[in-house]
Amino acid sequence: MLNNLEMLNLAKEACEKAYAPYSNFNVGACALYDSGNYYLGCNVENASYGLSLCAERNAMSNAIVAGEKGKLVKIAIYSNNRTNCMPCGACRQWMAEFKKDKELQIVLESEDSKCAVFTIEELLPYGFEL
Ligand code: THU
Repeated sequence: MLNNLEMLNLAKEACEKAYAPYSNFNVGACALYDSGNYYLGCNVENASYGLSLCAERNAMSNAIVAGEKGKLVKIAIYSNNRTNCMPCGACRQWMAEFKKDKELQIVLESEDSKCAVFTIEELLPYGFEL
């Protein structure tokens, strides 16, 4: 299993591939499943701004298309624009969809190049479920 810093480094590599010509806000994500497999994603923008895809949802979509059947246990997010790059509300809801349990960890780069860790329970309390 990858550790937090390894995941952040992979998210950083994905961030370098971001297609963000409109905001210049590059984001990368590394999503780790309980199978031990991980998937990368970067943000992909569009001239029709509202169609832009976040890095986190790109990573989780990559898991689906790869046939991943496991549950999401951890996701690291990196941006070259800021430390502590928090996931947007839509991405939090997506994370909840695939989470192993409420202890799903969201790993961010903190100011001293260390990791800040939150749980999905902290970032999306009372989330919608069917
Ligand atoms: N973005 C992400 O990739 N993830 C988030 O959780 C928040 C925002 C992207 C979308 C857009 O391309 C850029 O950051 C600025 O909003």
